[in-house]
Order: sequence, then structure tokens, then C-alpha cells
Amino acid sequence: MTASKFTANRPAEFPLPPGPKSYPGIGNTLGFLRDPFAFYDGLAQYGDVVSYSVAGEDFCTVLHPDYVEQVLVTEESKFGKSEFIRDGGAKFVGNGLVVSEGEFWRRQRTMMQPAFYRERIDTYTEPMVDFPAETADSWDDGETIRLRETMAELTLRILSKALFDHDIRDERSPVRDAAIGITRAINEKSDAGSVGSLIPEWIPTATNRRYRRAIARFDDAIHTLIEERRDDPGDDFLSMLLHATDENGEKMSPKALRDEMATFLFAGHETTALALTYCWYLLSTNPDVRRKLHDELDSVLDGRRPTMADLENLEYTDKVVTEALRRYSPAYVIFRETTEDAVVGGYTIPEGTSLTLPQFVIHNDGRWYDDPDEFRPERWTAEMKADLPDYAYFPFGGGPRHCIGMRFANAELRLVLATIAQRVALDRRSENGLDVRMGTTLEPTEPIEMSVRTR
Ligand code: HEM
Repeated sequence: MTASKFTANRPAEFPLPPGPKSYPGIGNTLGFLRDPFAFYDGLAQYGDVVSYSVAGEDFCTVLHPDYVEQVLVTEESKFGKSEFIRDGGAKFVGNGLVVSEGEFWRRQRTMMQPAFYRERIDTYTEPMVDFPAETADSWDDGETIRLRETMAELTLRILSKALFDHDIRDERSPVRDAAIGITRAINEKSDAGSVGSLIPEWIPTATNRRYRRAIARFDDAIHTLIEERRDDPGDDFLSMLLHATDENGEKMSPKALRDEMATFLFAGHETTALALTYCWYLLSTNPDVRRKLHDELDSVLDGRRPTMADLENLEYTDKVVTEALRRYSPAYVIFRETTEDAVVGGYTIPEGTSLTLPQFVIHNDGRWYDDPDEFRPERWTAEMKADLPDYAYFPFGGGPRHCIGMRFANAELRLVLATIAQRVALDRRSENGLDVRMGTTLEPTEPIEMSVRTR
């Protein structure tokens, strides 16, 4: 076993960061596994740059917004995507934008950026209103729904429409089985609690066979669609990317296109579904907030469907979403790895160290937020935002690798919330609090049941 970078006796102008007591051979693995939330809570006592080791990997967690900015923005070239995200991330996304690096990443990002310009997002907003309206109208008064699953179905439907111009509710849609199948298989595969997640992909277990079959079906569907859209382009992302060119006039290869489509599906559906899940949960536990939201929707929209143009007048709706993303950030930690020795907060972070920038800690830190445990959309005043350090709030990351889908997600969250809250209130079926776990995203440990109440 090689010595940890943090215990090795290496000369350093700046000292190595402090951290919890580490045990020979296992470092801090047991403490972390026992209760990762308590483990993170305990880090603050060592300062804003803390080192430890889990599963043979050296980690450094950064807890101050200024250092988050340094890692993501001002010195971003010293901090690459971390190796275990590249290796551990679903193989399904290939070399898509979330994991790619260097010149390839830059070329892909530049070619895809126009698909996310404001004018383009405007053209995708119809399903962000029509689909949730249809969903809410299909509910009976008093009906019980499973919140997360219902939101995931909705966001997958909206995303598939934007990506492929297909409605996955339509049984004849060629992407229906592919999109639903692959998201199910990924969930099953990445469920940290399941045995399937621990078994290497090449071992032919039932989970792995399902996973491989789902990938093959997805690949077939995408390649068929690519052929169709080549001759007959539509308004969807796929058509845009198929015809996009780089500075040399070159187009994306079919493999790169496939990887980016898989990446969008992977990065853009569960995250938004969870953000909506947390919005509804927090509204159900804060009746005053919910009443104010309903009042705003009733007075601004007066019963008609919301549009993109309405969003600037739906100020309270905006604050509700902003605050929900603060309390429960679906992307709860950003991972990086030092590509060279770096100095952060007066400490040396050796090359090859994994860094974590935990939104779920920084967004709930009393130094930046009064009563951080309270869901209080009113806190987001202009003065408060002006005083808040830039990276005390970063649900979509920051710097060159910030979420390319941020504008899409922001429009979707507000339009879906407004459309459904206009029609119904969702009440918790159980008084139990919300328990979350650190999966690929920050996810509820138990299904959340909601009772529909027509307004
Ligand atoms: C509430 C919803 C969402 C949240 C909280 C979220 C969060 C994030 C975060 C934190 C990152 C940065 C990761 C890093 O720096 O390592 C990211 C990157 C990314 N997101 Fe999102 N995201 C959301 C929705 C979406 C949507 C709707 C799409 C696509 C339609 C999308 C596509 C991507 C892609 C492709 C990247 C990688 C960008 C790059 O590295 O250049 N995300 N997202």
C-alpha cells in the first residue's frame, strides 16, 4: 500500500490541509460509510480546506465559496474532472460532455452551445406547459401519486420531446422503449444499495444483461433516428447537433452524437425530476409559502397557461425554485481532481487529489444563510443576493464546465411548477420527515406519496 499523499513526508512550502484522524490501511473509510452526512458535518471543525482518505483515495473538501470559485473558475485548469467520475460514471454516456476533457470537450461544447441559447429554449417550452397540464388534468381529486416517479416520467417526456421530437407517451414512438428502458436500467445499475451496482459490468448477471440490452436498444434507436434526421431535419436537439459544424466545417461523428444524446438524457432528466420533487415536498410542509405561490399564480396568470414571457412576472415562483435548489441541491457535490499541485486557502493540495465541492453543505451554511434549515423563499431579496458570496450558491456548478442545460432546466422547473400549482395542491400522505441519501444525485430514501387536491 502506497503512502497517502497527505501522510507522505513531502516538502511543501504550504502545509497539507488538516483533517479527521485517519486509520492505517483504511483511512477514514469506515467513518464515511457509517454516515456520510455526519462525516461531512464533522469536517467543518478542521476549517474550510479539509483532507481525508476514503477507499484508498485521497480527498480534499472545500467549504468556502471563495475556494469553490478558485477551483471552478479562476484556476480551473489545475482542476480536471476526477478520474473516478470518468470511470465510475455510467459507461452509457461514453465520452459525452459531462466526462470529456481537453480539446475534444471544448470542440463539443462550442458546437452544442447554440442549442441552449435563449431563443432556442423558447422553442422547447410548449411541452414544459402542455405535458404537466395534461398530467395534472388526468389526476382525480383525492388521488394518491408517487411524487418522484411522477416527476421523473414528466421530465423524461419533456426532455425526449426536446431531444428527439418524439412523445414517449405515444406507443408508436421509436424512442419510447429506448428512453424508458435506459433510464430504468441506469437507475437499477447505479442504485448504491443494490447488489447489482457492485458487480462488474462484464459478469452476466440479470441486472447487467438488462443494462446491456437497454444500451443496445438505445443505440439502435438513436442510429435509426440519426439516419432519419440527416435527410429530414426537425427542430429537435438531435437535428441541430447533426448539422452543427466546428471551426473547420467538420460535423460530429455518429459516435459523438450518440454519446451526447445519452449524456443529455442522463444529466437532464433525473436532476430536474428531483428538483421538482423537493419543490412539492417543501411546499407541502410550508402552507404559507404555498398560499403565496398560489396567490401569485392566480393574480399574474388569471387561469391561463403560463408562457416564457410570464416568468419575469412570476417573482415568487422564481424564489420558490431558487430556495428549493438551495435546500436540496440534486447535484449535491462537484468532483474535481488536481492536475498539478495547487494551493487553496494556504494549503497545498497535491497533484492527483480528488476534490469535493459540496453544495449540500455550503448551501446550508449559517455563515451565508440565516436559519439555513428553514425553507424561506422570501430570503432571496436583491440586497441578500448582492451580499451573498458568488459561490455560496452553485446548484448548476460554475466556470467553463457549468451546466449547459441550466437555462433549459430553469425554464422547465418554473413552468412545470406554475402549471401544476395552478390546478392542484399536493399534500403529504405521511407526517414523516424527508430522508435523503447520496446516490448519483441527492435522492429521497423512501417513496414520497402525495394526495392530489384540486384547487
Ligand atoms: C435541476 C436540474 C439540473 C441540475 C441541478 C444540474 C446540475 C449540473 C451541475 C452541477 C453540473 C456541473 C458538473 C461539474 O462541474 O462537474 C452540470 C453539468 C452538465 N449538465 Fe446539468 N443540471 C441540471 C439539468 C440539466 C439539463 C436539463 C441538461 C440537458 C438538457 C443538463 C446537462 C448537463 C451537461 C451536458 C453537463 C456537462 C457540461 C460540461 O461539462 O461542459 N443538465 N449540471
